[in-house]
Amino acid sequence: GAPVEVDISKIDLEPGMRMIVQWRGKPVWIFKRTPEQLAALATLNDRLRDPASENVEQTPAFAKNEGRSIKPELAVMVGICTHLGCSPSYVPELQPQPFDSEWQGGFYCPCHNSRFDLAGRVYQGVPAPSNLEVPPYHFIDDNRLMVG
Ligand code: FES
Repeated sequence: GAPVEVDISKIDLEPGMRMIVQWRGKPVWIFKRTPEQLAALATLNDRLRDPASENVEQTPAFAKNEGRSIKPELAVMVGICTHLGCSPSYVPELQPQPFDSEWQGGFYCPCHNSRFDLAGRVYQGVPAPSNLEVPPYHFIDDNRLMVG
């Protein structure tokens, strides 16, 4: 599949907004994380299966950092549950949810209750085996991103 160019200039306009683009037949999510959401990531490590993203198949070297991203605030990841491929729901709120009383924002897969944080890192004790995939990407300039 060809690389996909994405205009990210509008992504600041609405907090909680998520862009979804198709790359190689997969949905790629692009969304921003607030300073509060980024701060919450650091508190979750001991609840996660692979907090440092050691699994290279899901995380390219450039994304081996806390936010699993090039720019800390901007997340880019493949929106397919690593269990059996369902589409997880975006639940960005930093507050308890019916499926997790200590919820700190992230993604919830309704198929078999897998949970991921806002860096796409999988929680312990859920069926999904690994973090969400971060695709190859780079910035062309401040407003344009190339996925692939
Ligand atoms: Fe997501 Fe099973 S497909 S938890």
